[in-house]
Amino acid sequence: MSDNQLANKSQAWSALFSEPMSELVKRYTASVFFDKRLWKADIEGSLAHAEMLAAQGILAAEDHAAIQRGMAQIREEIEAGRFEWKLDLEDVHLNIEARLTEIVGLAGKRLHTGRSRNDQVATDVRLWLRGEIDEIAQLLTALQLALVDVAEQNAETILPGFTHLQVAQPVAFGHHLLAYVEMFARDAERMADVRRRVNRLPLGAAALAGTSYPLDRERVARTLGMEAVCQNSLDAVSDRDFAIEFSAAAALVMVHVSRLSEELILWMSQSFGFIDLADRFCTGSSIMPQKKNPDVPELARGKSGRVVGHLMGLITLMKGQPLAYNKDNQEDKEPLFDTVDTLKDTLRIFAEMAAGITVKPEAMERAAMRGYATATDLADYLVKKGLPFRDAHEVVAHAVKTAIAEGRDLSALSLDALKAFDARIEADVFDVLSLRGSLNARNILGGTAPDQVRAQVARHRARLA
Ligand code: ARG
Repeated sequence: MSDNQLANKSQAWSALFSEPMSELVKRYTASVFFDKRLWKADIEGSLAHAEMLAAQGILAAEDHAAIQRGMAQIREEIEAGRFEWKLDLEDVHLNIEARLTEIVGLAGKRLHTGRSRNDQVATDVRLWLRGEIDEIAQLLTALQLALVDVAEQNAETILPGFTHLQVAQPVAFGHHLLAYVEMFARDAERMADVRRRVNRLPLGAAALAGTSYPLDRERVARTLGMEAVCQNSLDAVSDRDFAIEFSAAAALVMVHVSRLSEELILWMSQSFGFIDLADRFCTGSSIMPQKKNPDVPELARGKSGRVVGHLMGLITLMKGQPLAYNKDNQEDKEPLFDTVDTLKDTLRIFAEMAAGITVKPEAMERAAMRGYATATDLADYLVKKGLPFRDAHEVVAHAVKTAIAEGRDLSALSLDALKAFDARIEADVFDVLSLRGSLNARNILGGTAPDQVRAQVARHRARLA
């Protein structure tokens, strides 16, 4: 096939086609303008395939050498931005193969022996995604470390803990941040788990049924650093569940980021005033000169919708496809690419932003004081003095009602006033009623006491080292 012929795709397939493809159909079916980003994986996969063909005696040593030389040149051309991507050649695979044939002649045409674009594209996407997962793992580590730093500095900082967004009990701000570290740690685990299933080799499945050439698939898997060979050719070329589960893991990361974003936005609002974000993560308003808006967390919250949407797109793309490969699968790329781009940018920016959080401990503590956050502690105090918990709960409810009526905190009531609710209350109650006393009391594994927070910080540091 000459380059001229390849430039006209209808002829590139075979002599079977008697009319050229319309321009509209060409554009509709082409993927090169987005899938060219798979070029590195495409070349890597082709080189591994060629090496195996040569080792098996299917490809002559000279042809193998020519393919290696041609691919090295193509790599240079692409890296230098000199490679001419052609819409007429539909996708990244045909573009590279056609250029290879231009450079090295017949050897280029022999590369596709025992291979189809169906097993080729499945391999490329897996190789590419594996590399992206590794980068995402590093970014997740960096974000966790940034949060651990802020948590360590705030092991003692008192924050009102909320349930139903109503003040519930005091927690350490560091403890609160470490909750997100736990989420991102599980995200990293999920990514590592998904990677195992991404890292399997479809090549050798050919179009759908395997091939009559004596390919050594295990060898190709080893060359590409893949952990296993896909064991059923029909499944190998057609399923994109690995992409779907990656998207699900990515969507969960974004959901966690979105929850954190929501809190940062609330905390930075005037009504809370708990934190400030560095100016470089905020923008002003074109009309209201006083405004400083938390655009970055707002956008991250918005972008989480986009990533969740891609998961829906991919999973719906798969549904209803008969075996084996269908062109529907070409539609897996844009959502997958956008998911990876959005996730990586978001993780990068959040690691930086976390390091630039200014904490306002007085405002946090004031807010914790306003909500009778130590009421449970008073109940626990009475339980320790023999009152059943339900009765203690009732006694404290009365005390809180009185305190609200008087407009003060429980700790501001006199000992006599407190004794009126239950005679068992003594002077030591005031330690219990303090926010700090409440915090320190929760010195149990997973609890919010500063000692626990510091122990968790140490555990995370050891784990992330
Ligand atoms: N561009 C195609 C894709 O992304 C490559 C595989 C095409 N295979 C085919 N039989 N048309 O899925």
